[in-house]
Amino acid sequence: MAEPKRALITGVTGQDGGHLAELLLAEGYAVYGLVRGQNNPRRAQLQAEFPTLTVIEGDLTDPASLVRALERSDANEVFNLAAVSHVGFSFANPTLTADVTGKGVLNLLEAIRITGRSERTRFYQASTSEMFGGLDYNRPGNGYTEDSLFHPRSPYGVAKLYGHWIAKNYRESYGMFISCGILFNHEGERRGKEFVTRKITDAVARISLGRQSHIDLGNLWPKRDWGYAGDYVRGMWQMLQHSEPDDFVLATGETHSIEDFLTLAFAEVGIEDWRPYVRQDAAQLRPAEVDILLGDPSKAESVLGWRRDVDFPGLVSRMVAHDLAVQSEESGTRTP
Ligand code: NAP
Ligand code: GDD
Repeated sequence: MAEPKRALITGVTGQDGGHLAELLLAEGYAVYGLVRGQNNPRRAQLQAEFPTLTVIEGDLTDPASLVRALERSDANEVFNLAAVSHVGFSFANPTLTADVTGKGVLNLLEAIRITGRSERTRFYQASTSEMFGGLDYNRPGNGYTEDSLFHPRSPYGVAKLYGHWIAKNYRESYGMFISCGILFNHEGERRGKEFVTRKITDAVARISLGRQSHIDLGNLWPKRDWGYAGDYVRGMWQMLQHSEPDDFVLATGETHSIEDFLTLAFAEVGIEDWRPYVRQDAAQLRPAEVDILLGDPSKAESVLGWRRDVDFPGLVSRMVAHDLAVQSEESGTRTP
């Protein structure tokens, strides 16, 4: 019987890491996950959900830990999902963001090279639509493609652009199999509550049950191309199964405002007018905003055969349903 493929996931405790671990385990991979910190509360959750996944301790800012992770996992496929990923946080922590989200990519690529794994390792880099910036002058009508101009608008976007280009540079310089997924926003049940969609669906569930009175939000007009994370990790995996390394946009080709998201989310619990429940919070405003993101996934669809299953109303609906279920589980545990 053939040996199972071996995958190393950095950022395995994050949203995409959870979806990807699920997919790779179902595909029969031996899965290793890099977990940072001496007492990471997400480690126990991860091990409870995926008992066959092997945890390896390490940090993208610690090159020796990455060498050890590669040696221990002996991975054929490395998915680099780890990052400081919150745009607002990156404005307050720009140096950390550069070290993890930018230079961390270089640390991992160098670790592959110095351990002699360049030719036998396929590498996925988690690039982002934040690299485009959403300004009028570089916004194509049908959506950003792999060839659109970059104009990042945050320390996060700038760090990701470094990661994107160093990954491309290692592909071109050393012939490594490195593919960059330029992913537009993707959400779901595993999304952190620091991001706007999950913050809204969590609050909607609580408001509908009388456990919260309102939500504090920043700008409501920005538009995002929102898809479902489960569909997007399948695209990441498809990129590494393809015959050639390349860059691919994953997006839905639709864009919606935060107001649109609020309308659908509140409607799920029978509230037609969300305005009385939303307060403006200046603390959520960013020094520079990305007004609108819209992606064109034609290349991934035609070259990889990538498809998305969940549409925008379906995404909102499943997130609200999930948070209502979480709330009722919590009340179940409180009921004597
Ligand atoms: P996420 O939920 O915020 O997860 C980030 C992960 O990175 C967590 O597992 C975190 O671990 C880990 N991490 C942070 N600093 C680290 C360090 N110094 N060393 C090792 N691990 C570290 O992010 P996500 O939404 O799953 O996104 C996955 C990747 O795709 C990220 O690179 C993100 O920037 C990129 N991306 C996301 C989207 C999106 O819409 N979700 C779109 C485009 C690109 P802890 O548990 O220890 O904090
Ligand atoms: N987080 C947050 N919290 N955002 C808010 C809030 C709030 O209370 N109120 C309004 N917003 C607005 C933000 O200003 C932004 O315009 C929009 O909601 C989306 O914010 P986030 O959900 O934090 O996501 P993001 O688009 O900034 O970044 C996400 O998507 C990128 C891909 O385009 C992250 O997942 C990044 O890691 C990812 O690269």
